Amino acid sequence: MSPAETKAVGRTTGRNGDVPAGPAAGRPRSDSEIPPAEAVRLVRRTRRIDGWLSPGAIYLFALIDSIQKQQSIAGNVFEIGVHHGKSALVLAAMTRPSETLGDCDIFGSQGLNESRSGRVDRDIFMGHFNDAFPGYSRLRIYEKLSTGLTPEEVSGCRFLHVDGGHSTAEALADLELCARCLVPGGIIALDDAFNSSWPGVTEAVFEFLRRHSNMVPLVVGFNKMLLVDASWRESYSRVFDVPSEYRRYVPRRPYSMKVVELVKCPTYVFYVHSSRSEKSVSTWLHRLKLAHPSLGTGPVGALWRGFRGVSRIVGLTK
Ligand SMILES: C[S@@+](CC[C@H](N)C(=O)[O-])C[C@H]1O[C@@H](n2cnc3c(N)ncnc32)[C@H](O)[C@@H]1O
Repeated sequence: MSPAETKAVGRTTGRNGDVPAGPAAGRPRSDSEIPPAEAVRLVRRTRRIDGWLSPGAIYLFALIDSIQKQQSIAGNVFEIGVHHGKSALVLAAMTRPSETLGDCDIFGSQGLNESRSGRVDRDIFMGHFNDAFPGYSRLRIYEKLSTGLTPEEVSGCRFLHVDGGHSTAEALADLELCARCLVPGGIIALDDAFNSSWPGVTEAVFEFLRRHSNMVPLVVGFNKMLLVDASWRESYSRVFDVPSEYRRYVPRRPYSMKVVELVKCPTYVFYVHSSRSEKSVSTWLHRLKLAHPSLGTGPVGALWRGFRGVSRIVGLTK
């Protein structure tokens, strides 16, 4: 990425001073990875953009990006489902100068949005994108249903973010397309795989894993599920097995991590411990509001909205 292509979010080169003090400080890193401090800036930069990407997901994406760069896994980055570009900005920051970012959305044709999974305004998206990446010339926009994408348009990807239609058929078709377009070592990041509001996505991912025995779950967390070819799992697990490595990006608080077997494969699960979330002020305010709906409009309502804003910023709620 050339300096002209970046503004605040895009400094992906040099700057050893961006690596925070700690066990991993001073560790050699790939020239083009997003330094951890830059990932924090990305969270700040995208905070006001309407969308569904949590801070935790941004840290996770930046971590995967750094692993891929350490492992010299190269390829394009692609996303299905743009909305206002919150995730697109993070994906753009990940791209190397030799890589493109593909973004597919139906944009104004919301009549085609079968599952009503978000809505989008292309001008708002482009405004956010151009503001963050003036002069970025590697954005490829596909304004159509994802079922209209050809493998040639998507091909050669190291990172694919699937966040478009949320019905079983839509999510499964997107996963099938993405599986054909991965370079060796590439990752598919699926949104809402375990969100009870979108059970069709859950059905889709298990059907996909049943059909593609080579693909395995790697990480579940921050409302994302990452899938990788089993033969490449080890390249990533080397980092997820070492807390000082993955904690460079994913903060210890409030995120715990455990390894859980899923479809017979050890899977790294990031979560907020229930004792932490149950005791949170936000949970307490939620309960109060449920018991006294009229409080939601007065000063307590304003307080509640304030805490919800803060808890969204730190990734406790969507
Ligand atoms: C949940 S939003 C994307 C959120 C965005 N990735 C973010 O992190 O903020 C889903 C988007 O997918 C788009 N969409 C829904 N169904 C689609 C389809 N079948 N093909 C392409 N885009 C679709 C919608 O227009 C909407 O903008």
